[in-house]
Amino acid sequence: MSEKHEASGVSTTGHVWDDDLADLTNEPPKWWMLGLTASALFVVVYWLYYPSIPFATTNGFFKGIGGWTAIKEMEADVGEVEAVRGKFEARLKGMTPAAILADSELTEYVTRSGKVLFGDNCAACHGQNGIGTHDKEGLFAPILNDDDWLYGGKIEDIHASIEGGRQGMMMAHKDMLSAAEIDALANAVAKGQPTSTPLFAAKGCTACHGEDGKGNQAMGSANLVDKIWRFEVRNDKLNDAENMKRLVEGSKRTITYGVNSGDPQGRAAVMPSFKEAGKLSDTEIKKLAVYVYKFGGGQSDAPAAAAAPAAGAAK
Ligand code: HEC
Ligand code: HEC
Repeated sequence: MSEKHEASGVSTTGHVWDDDLADLTNEPPKWWMLGLTASALFVVVYWLYYPSIPFATTNGFFKGIGGWTAIKEMEADVGEVEAVRGKFEARLKGMTPAAILADSELTEYVTRSGKVLFGDNCAACHGQNGIGTHDKEGLFAPILNDDDWLYGGKIEDIHASIEGGRQGMMMAHKDMLSAAEIDALANAVAKGQPTSTPLFAAKGCTACHGEDGKGNQAMGSANLVDKIWRFEVRNDKLNDAENMKRLVEGSKRTITYGVNSGDPQGRAAVMPSFKEAGKLSDTEIKKLAVYVYKFGGGQSDAPAAAAAPAAGAAK
C-alpha cells in the first residue's frame, strides 16, 4: 500500500505524517550493506576461532578451532620476560654493587626491579622515592634522595645500611646536664655552630660528633655543622624565626632524651637489617643499594663535588 511521497517522488512505507515527514522505502547505501555483511562474517569467524559458545546442557563450552587460551597467551608472555630476566639475574649473582653500578645496562635493569622492592620493603618508612617520613615528632626515617648521609653515601655504605640495618645511639643527657646547659647547647647546635659553646667539648659531645662537630659516619653521629637536620625538616609555612624555634626545641629533645637510648621519651630510629630478617635475598639487597644510590645522592669514591645543600633540608 505504498504511495508516492510528493516532495521526493519516492514510495513511502505508508507512514506519512505530513509533506515533510514520511518513511521512505529508499534502499540503504552500498557501503552500509557491505559493512554490515563484513561485521556479520567477522563475528562468525571470531566465534569459530576463539572459545565462545557455552553448551546449554554441560558446563563446557565450544573451545574454538584456533586452540587459543588465556593461560597459553600469558605463559608465552611470562616465558619471554623470564628469558630476559634470567640472563640478567645470573650475571648479578657474582657481582658487587659497585660493579653493577659500573654497567649501565645492568643498572637500568636493577633500577626497575629496585623500584618495586623499595615500594614493598622501604617506602613505609622512607617514603615513596626516599623522600623520608615524618611522625608527630619529626623525621622518623631519613631522606634518601639527597646527598647527605648519616652512614655514608658510597655504594658500599648504602649496601651495608640495608644489609645490616642501622641504629644510631645517643644517650639521654637529662641527668648529666642542667636545663641551662641543654638550652645553650641546643641553641648553638640549631645555628649550626655547636663548637661556639665550650660545653660542646666539656660535656663530651665531641666524643661522638667530633672536635669540629662534623660527626662520624662510622657511628652515624650526625654532622651538626652542615645545617641539615636528621630529625627536623624546614616547614615552609613558618618564617625563619619560627623554624629556628622549632629546631631549638627539637635539638633540646634530642639532647635531653637521646636517640635509641632506652628513654621512653627518646627518639626511636631503628633501621632493621634486611639480611638478618631473611626478608630479602643477597641479590635483592644489591638491587636496592643501586636503586637508592641512583636516587641521585650517591657518592663516588672521587671527592664529592660539594654542592651546598638547601638550608634546612634534612638528612
Ligand atoms: C622500620 C622502618 C624502616 C624500614 C622498613 C627501612 N628503613 Fe632504612 N632507615 C630507617 C631509619 C630509622 C634509619 C636511620 C637510622 C638511624 O638514624 O640510626 C634508616 C636508615 C637507612 C639508610 C642510611 C641513611 C643514611 O643517611 O646513611 C639507608 C641507606 C636505608 N635506611 C635504606 C633502606 C632501604 C633500602 C630499605 C628497604 C629495604 C629500608 N631502609 C627500610 C628506617 C627504616
Ligand atoms: C655516644 C655518642 C654520642 C654522644 C656522646 C652525643 N651524641 Fe648526639 N648524636 C649521636 C648520634 C649517633 C646521633 C644520630 C642518631 C641517629 O639519627 O640515629 C646524634 C644526633 C644528635 C642530634 C640530632 C642531629 C640532627 O641532625 O637532627 C643532636 C642535636 C645532637 N646529637 C647533639 C648532641 C650534643 C649537644 C651532645 C653533647 C651533649 C651529643 N649530641 C652527644 C651520638 C652522640
